[in-house]
Amino acid sequence: MKKLWGGRFTKSAEEWVDEFGASISFDQELVQEDLQGSIAHVTMLSANGIISEEDAEKIKSGLQTLQEKAANEEIEYSVKLEDIHLNLESALTELVGPVGGKLHTARSRNDQVATDMHLYLKKQVQTIIMLVEELQNALLTQAEANVETVMPGYTHLQRAQPISFAHHLMAYFWMLDRDKQRYQESLKRINISPLGAGALAGTTFPIDRYQTAELLGFEGIYENSLDAVSDRDFILEFLSSSSTLMMHLSRLSEELILWSSQEFQFIELDDSFATGSSIMPQKKNPDMAELIRGKTGRVYGNLMGMLTVLKGLPLAYNKDMQEDKEGMFDTVKTVVGSLKIFVGMIETMKVKTTQMEKATKNDFSNATELADYLSSKGVPFREAHEIVGKLVLTCVQKGCFLMDLTLEEYRAVNDLFEADIYKVLDPYTAVERRNSAGGTGFDQVRIAIDKAKAKLNKE
Ligand code: ARG
Repeated sequence: MKKLWGGRFTKSAEEWVDEFGASISFDQELVQEDLQGSIAHVTMLSANGIISEEDAEKIKSGLQTLQEKAANEEIEYSVKLEDIHLNLESALTELVGPVGGKLHTARSRNDQVATDMHLYLKKQVQTIIMLVEELQNALLTQAEANVETVMPGYTHLQRAQPISFAHHLMAYFWMLDRDKQRYQESLKRINISPLGAGALAGTTFPIDRYQTAELLGFEGIYENSLDAVSDRDFILEFLSSSSTLMMHLSRLSEELILWSSQEFQFIELDDSFATGSSIMPQKKNPDMAELIRGKTGRVYGNLMGMLTVLKGLPLAYNKDMQEDKEGMFDTVKTVVGSLKIFVGMIETMKVKTTQMEKATKNDFSNATELADYLSSKGVPFREAHEIVGKLVLTCVQKGCFLMDLTLEEYRAVNDLFEADIYKVLDPYTAVERRNSAGGTGFDQVRIAIDKAKAKLNKE
């Protein structure tokens, strides 16, 4: 097969060398974006008198046929034709004859591929933002149903203070909100057109870059042709936002895994998001959550890979940049898949309210309440801390909890203790009373849910 750039060459590479250099096995993912870019380009060429209207119409109708063929997966790709751009140009020429060769006037694969990537990422980021919102909604629904579900809150994975389960879930709502903001912010830089930068220096033809930008729905154009073809910051940003999102999903995965263990028994994942064991009949494994925790690694890897590819590249285009695609496609697939699974997992998760509440009763996570109690009666907090620490030690030695000590035992330590301590020690009251802004008090959690809903519905 004749190479489209074969003029200068006296012999062709061996097949395995071609195969090594080709990107068609993965960049066929960009087929629709490439055709869309070409249609805008050819429209602009004829509008500016660079090619005749008649030629442009022929080319356009060929490109439209290819759009249909691509949608039906009827295009045959060849490794010999290296990449999606040359494969499509060759398919076009086969359809419309030599006039197809005019499409590449005033264009290079360098600005072409950059355009494809911008178009592709814009669409994917919009989908991801929608999925993040779906997950936020799923969290909101579970939170609303669990405002007064009391559970142990942890620091160092040791029980710390009782909290509302809704409050815990809402923490993830806000993490996702920041993720969404990062993606939205990055759209500004994705949504600009490199088309018309040519190979690196612009072109001698009287093209109109603003016209193609507008036809493709971009908000502006790259100001510098060298920058336009060699910038991959927008991909780095995408990989970086995705790494942070996956880190959040991974942390929540870890919690779901812990919570569904026999040791915690705080939730049960729906059967549709769990799997069994081939040997142990009793098992129900949180595979999906584990897999998302695991897949976080590959997204970080893609980010590191891309940063490393770019670090020593002189301007402008270098073939190294072909390596920008697989990591990006893989990240899109991983993020989209993980978000979809997560929506289902959260929506169908069963919350074991009684188990959670039971857990708050059998520990010392109400010790702070007692220290606060004394300090609100004038004892300096440090001293109150010491007194309660001693009481905890007494309990540990006796094998009981703070609730089990008698009022006499309390008063023997400090006579500021009165009968109302038992109410204060109740985990439910402990949560209810943490009514500072952004705290876990039920009223605060309700306010937070309302704020979150209002924010989500506005966007
Ligand atoms: N397949 C190439 C890529 O993905 C397209 C651009 C090729 N440009 C070039 N001058 N070889 O980066």
